[in-house]
This record gives sequence, structure tokens and C-alpha cells, in this order.
Amino acid sequence: MEGSRDIDHWTSVAAQWIAWARTPNHDAFWAYQDQLKAYVGTGTGAALDVGCGEGRVSRALTACGYTVTAVDPVPEFVEAARQAQSARRYAVAPAGALPFEDGGFDLVMAYNVLMDVDDVPGAVREMKRVLRRNGTMFISVVHPLADLALMEAQERYFDRRRFSAKVEERGLAMHFAGWAEPLEAYARALESAGLAIVSLREPSAAPLAGQDHLDRWTRLPLFLWIKARNLPG
Ligand SMILES: C[S@@+](CC[C@H](N)C(=O)[O-])C[C@H]1O[C@@H](n2cnc3c(N)ncnc32)[C@H](O)[C@@H]1O
Repeated sequence: MEGSRDIDHWTSVAAQWIAWARTPNHDAFWAYQDQLKAYVGTGTGAALDVGCGEGRVSRALTACGYTVTAVDPVPEFVEAARQAQSARRYAVAPAGALPFEDGGFDLVMAYNVLMDVDDVPGAVREMKRVLRRNGTMFISVVHPLADLALMEAQERYFDRRRFSAKVEERGLAMHFAGWAEPLEAYARALESAGLAIVSLREPSAAPLAGQDHLDRWTRLPLFLWIKARNLPG
């Protein structure tokens, strides 16, 4: 399997993440979900949810009309996604080695996954391989401005920086760990894989009841959403 630090980390926090992601209105995701569905739009093709976790993004894609395949390298996540009937098909695999044929998907989604992946260019190349010509890749990452807010004074924005944060909020604990990257790193990974950025959004949080802790993200972008097209040739 590709670089295992990312997979080892998510294996070790799988139970934490499932509780964090599934507790109603706890995670920031719920303050963005409606905007996400509107931005993805309705579709009837085949979608691949890479790094599906416990399956909430697969369920959103299914609600948009897609026939969804959910894949994650952590078996516990894939089993949780299956139990919640999140998708039509499931597989255990990392983004860099997807067990699917070339060009089989109309939409490939990596929602808050690439900042956790050790080899971003390799993951993007492999996700492009399974995307049909003119198909859409959808990427969500933590916005580089949000990373800046957490950055140590001596760090350089331009470097790929390791982050690790143990968070405790309203009775739930979660250990997030991954990478902070300059915006250009994602653009370069897409470009060099032969994908053209066609749309970009900086959604503002729409906090739900009990999500006052997200107030900051109504003023600053927490996530960056990018749509890129798989260019022919
Ligand atoms: C922050 S969670 C997001 C899960 C899901 N996309 C969501 O938004 O609910 C990050 C996910 O990335 C997955 N992941 C970690 N390393 C990966 C890799 N190399 N390839 C694919 N997914 C990976 C983790 O197992 C985890 O499910």
C-alpha cells in the first residue's frame, strides 16, 4: 500500500472519527452540507467517493442522484459506510492505488482527504485515471488561510508543513493529523495530472443550532472547494 503514515493515523482514530462525524450538528460538515449539495448539483452518473470515511459524503452524492462507489484505505470506515447504506459499491483501497478500470467514473470526489494524504500528486494522478474524459474531479481541502491561522510564527507558508492537533469539543475528542500545503501545491498536482480547474468556491459556514463555535468560519474560509475537468488527450 502507498505511504502508510496517513493510513496508520486514520486507522488509529477511526472510532473517534466515526463518533465525531456522526454526532448530530457536531462537526463543521453539517454547516456546509447544503451548499455542498447545491455546488455538486444533481447528476445521474457514476461517482467515486475517495477517502469516504464513515460515508456522509457518499450519502450526499447519492442524494444528488449519483450512483456512488465508496472507497477508503481503512476497513473500519468502509464497514461503517456500508452499514449506513451510504453507497452502491464499496472497496478498501488508498487514493494512490484504486481498484477500478480507467475512465469509469463521471465524478471523482476527494472531500477533506488530500490534506491527509502523504503523496498528493500520486493520489491526484490515480483519481484522474479512473475519471472519464471531461468528467469532473471535486476536491475539498482545509483552506490555506485557515491553516495560516494555526501556523507557528517561524513556519513558511510556502513549505509543506506537518500538522497534528488533538481537539476536545463538547465531550468528543479527535486527533487530526496531516499536511498544510500552499494553494499552489493543489493547483500544480491538478495541472500536472492533466486536469483543468474550472470552478473554485470558498464557502462560508452556515452554523446550525448549537454550532456557535463555528462563528469564526462565517468570517474566514475554513474550506476550499475546487472542480477540475479531465481534459481529453
Ligand atoms: C477527514 S476524513 C474525511 C472522510 C470523508 N471524506 C468525510 O468528509 O466525511 C479523512 C479520510 O481520508 C482517508 N485517508 C487517509 N489516507 C488516505 C489515502 N492515502 N487514500 C485515501 N484516503 C485516505 C481517511 O481514512 C479518512 O477517511
